[in-house]
Amino acid sequence: MTCSACKGITPDDPRFAELDAFIQDGHSSADFLIAVLHRAQQLFGYLPEEVQHHVAAALGVPPSEVYGVVTFYNYFTLTPVGKYPINVCMGTACYVQGAGRILELFEKELGIQPGQVTPDGLFSLDVCRCVGACGLAPVVTVAGEVHGKLTESDALKLVAELRERAAADQAEAGAAVATVGGESQ
Ligand code: FES
Repeated sequence: MTCSACKGITPDDPRFAELDAFIQDGHSSADFLIAVLHRAQQLFGYLPEEVQHHVAAALGVPPSEVYGVVTFYNYFTLTPVGKYPINVCMGTACYVQGAGRILELFEKELGIQPGQVTPDGLFSLDVCRCVGACGLAPVVTVAGEVHGKLTESDALKLVAELRERAAADQAEAGAAVATVGGESQ
């Protein structure tokens, strides 16, 4: 599936130029590997192989070292992430309380599997192990926000609310652009 967030990244992608500008602005040694990866993830949304190799070459470090850092820190991700990353806890307590059904429902509602992003870039879906809120099982996190004791209808409501939130954000951004445009006339 192709989408705005997961289209192949080609070497002429303008984001590489932005990344290079950051590297050349005092971050060109191996000491800045984490800072550079952080900037790369801000630009690309995730850190696929192409981006890791670019960083490795630019900082003169082995690609294996870059990969080691990317996989060591939870903050970094190798897969594309949507604006609202949905994580379904599949730990024992959540599983017993029906997390599998919740996951299936998200898959059906969003039309994606774990590890994928919706074509509009709004949602990504993933599974995780215990998030430490077993008393609230089944648990789902959205961008780190915990939603507990989730029923199937709660899950559908959650997706609808997030879609509304995204539409409102978009309308607000459109209004801000229109205001700036009006002021500049
Ligand atoms: S098993 Fe899901 S929060 Fe612990």
